[in-house]
Amino acid sequence: MDSLLHDWPEPVVAVQSIAESGATLIPNKYVKLAADRPTGPGSSAGRELSIPIIDLGKLAGGVIDCRAVIRAISDACRDWGFFQVVNHGVDMEVVKAVLGVWREFFKLPMEEKKKLANSPRTYEGYGSRLGVEKDSSLDWGDYFYLHLLPHCIKNFDKWPTVPGACREITEEYGRQMVNLCETVMKVLSMSLGFNVEFLKEKFGGEEIGACMRVNYYPKCPQPELTLGLSAHSDPGGLTVLLADDQVPGLQVRKGNAWVTVNPIPGALIINVGDQIQVLSNATYKSVEHRVVVNEAEERLSIAFFYNPKSDLPLEPVKELVTQERPQLYRAMTFNEYRLYIRKKGPSGKTQVESLKAM
Ligand code: OGA
Ligand code: NI
Repeated sequence: MDSLLHDWPEPVVAVQSIAESGATLIPNKYVKLAADRPTGPGSSAGRELSIPIIDLGKLAGGVIDCRAVIRAISDACRDWGFFQVVNHGVDMEVVKAVLGVWREFFKLPMEEKKKLANSPRTYEGYGSRLGVEKDSSLDWGDYFYLHLLPHCIKNFDKWPTVPGACREITEEYGRQMVNLCETVMKVLSMSLGFNVEFLKEKFGGEEIGACMRVNYYPKCPQPELTLGLSAHSDPGGLTVLLADDQVPGLQVRKGNAWVTVNPIPGALIINVGDQIQVLSNATYKSVEHRVVVNEAEERLSIAFFYNPKSDLPLEPVKELVTQERPQLYRAMTFNEYRLYIRKKGPSGKTQVESLKAM
């Protein structure tokens, strides 16, 4: 493993402890360049727009027969890279429970949470920074990151023991997320003209990876100067985001505009990650998104990441490489790929762009 990733470049300060100190100014490290601030370019452009809403209930009779849903998801992936799903089949009791246990976790005393402090080597545990570059700008959020699949890398020693139900509920939530992602993978396979299992097999079949990041964005005294999470695209395959439906914060890039997502109660937000962009030779693009924070309310979100098997080289599938659209990306394993974000932190779409080395 890369020696750079042994430890953080400077002591990690939980954003929650800054927020709870009563400070009225945020430390300089959190102040973004003017162009990156929530009030920067594009911030007032996309007010009337919203990401598509897709009813997955129509898939109940099987994916293959549902051309309308396949079309809707395919259009959403091309136009937005993001959509909300309703009637998604995920048990709402489990959804409520997983939000409940993680809200409770972030309320634990700081010394309890710090016992699970993470390192950049695997990122598992409680953390407050992405990337190991010294003196880089920091985001106004804390998180808890954990691995769910493959089973051999799931390490319960790094999971909270309090609240007591956290493990069981998080695992159950994870299983339901895997099912949902597999449905979406089938739809995407069909929409690209392949058989239903095609993309999952490209991801390594039964050996796919899954991990989760619970994001906690404390109240911020100067929200107009910072971001909860800087602009980035997700490095993996698919992301399912369970967002606080009372407190908006997620913004998705649409052309030059930043469009705020208003979560529908009970819905889940799905987006395509860089690995789908690579496999599909950019038929579907992973889209940049960011999080804004606010002065009045904290916000919690749970991002579930469905990823390819980590040591499998991934490249555009041959059928999508043509004379008009040559192979855009070179092959790389997901292990190699995610080293980039682990070092540099969220940095727009520079990572997938860097694969354009043909
Ligand atoms: C992420 C992410 C958005 C949010 O965790 O990758 O984009 O609303 N989260 O927390
Ligand atoms: Ni993201």
